[in-house]
Amino acid sequence: MQPELEIYSQTERLYQAAAERISQILELQLRSKEIATFVLTGGNTPKPVYEFLVTAPQRSRLDWDRIHFFWGDERCVPPDHPDSNFGMAWKALLSRINVTPSHIHRITSEFQNSEIAAFDYEREIRKVLPGSGIPSFDLVLLGMGEDGHTASLFPGTEWNEERLVVVNYVQKLDAKRITMTPRLLNEARTIIFLLVGRRKAKALSGVLEDSTSDYPAKRIRPSKGRLIWMIDSSAASLLKSSSRQITE
Ligand code: 6PG
Repeated sequence: MQPELEIYSQTERLYQAAAERISQILELQLRSKEIATFVLTGGNTPKPVYEFLVTAPQRSRLDWDRIHFFWGDERCVPPDHPDSNFGMAWKALLSRINVTPSHIHRITSEFQNSEIAAFDYEREIRKVLPGSGIPSFDLVLLGMGEDGHTASLFPGTEWNEERLVVVNYVQKLDAKRITMTPRLLNEARTIIFLLVGRRKAKALSGVLEDSTSDYPAKRIRPSKGRLIWMIDSSAASLLKSSSRQITE
């Protein structure tokens, strides 16, 4: 399926539209299934979106206690560390809704060897989404860095393509990250990329319009699901004018 592109002239409106879209997708899933699965992303961009999710009408429309929350990647820090992706989502979203504690599936990288944490996370995912194939999340949120990384799949890093969750050593950060792999992410029913700001424009045009580029975000191509890029006009500024149609 071709990626869908939504360009917003006002960043604030993009955040709001993303929150509306997320709640519609989850609501639809919960109409036909007992639970829905939602993979959260780190970084700064999703924070205002999480905050919109806890305001009306999204907050009251959803049965939050039937949603299982996962993380696409995590830094190897305790949950109350300012860099923790879980910590950010907890403050902005999870602590403010009626979530079932056992439905919060965070990557517990601080307790143990990170390789073990990655294996444990694969096991945790399969426990919630059992079956012999690759688990399929209902909704995955992703961001992208200006170097084209997404989740913790950074340029120049290599990961085992067979795995669902891996430890990635990122040289430029001199740090290990735990991340879902494209093999797992690409099984999702819907993937939404959230992108704002001029500094992301070059990587975005490379991912969407340059067939020779090899940005890691290019590896995100759902096998059956939808891929939606929700971006602001600054991030879209280097796209070909034919793709730069403003949505709102
Ligand atoms: C993380 C991420 C990462 C992030 C991008 C964009 O843990 O940092 O999951 O992939 O989404 O770096 O981050 P910003 O939204 O802060 O630009």
